[in-house]
Amino acid sequence: MRRAAAHATWPELVTGESPELPEFRASACASVHRLLLHDMGEGLADGRPVYRASGRDWRTPPLWGLGLIQKVNGHTFLLHDGRARNAAEAVLWHGGEALGAREAFQMMSAADRAALVAFLNSL
Ligand code: HEM
Repeated sequence: MRRAAAHATWPELVTGESPELPEFRASACASVHRLLLHDMGEGLADGRPVYRASGRDWRTPPLWGLGLIQKVNGHTFLLHDGRARNAAEAVLWHGGEALGAREAFQMMSAADRAALVAFLNSL
């Protein structure tokens, strides 16, 4: 993955050459996660404000390296408290400002969902 020209408000990342997954070659992926705090809704809230983060706000983690978590950590638990067992479950916990992402994921065809999960696990 290479860093592309900076976007107006945050840097954009673009995937590199990938012979195994040509459909994801040179795809911009910055808009998925901005590495900022976001209100993720009641489902992920812990009700414990920290400085400027309310109990519903979480920092968007970088997604690169996602496919190596099993190898490095020996598990694939995701989200701030490890409640999601994999990337698909993590997306299905998205609410609040990220509700649109969850709904889009739910509305995708099974093939597109599988392709997205394959992409996430290739990062
Ligand atoms: C297709 C779109 C998206 C995908 C595939 C996606 C995927 C993911 C994944 C796999 C995680 C778990 C990462 C980890 O625990 O290391 C995650 C967490 C998170 N995502 Fe997204 N995401 C998407 C869109 C969004 C959007 C639009 C927002 C905000 C507006 C957002 C905000 C967050 C936050 C704040 C977390 C951390 C939540 C927590 O730790 O409880 N995501 N996302």
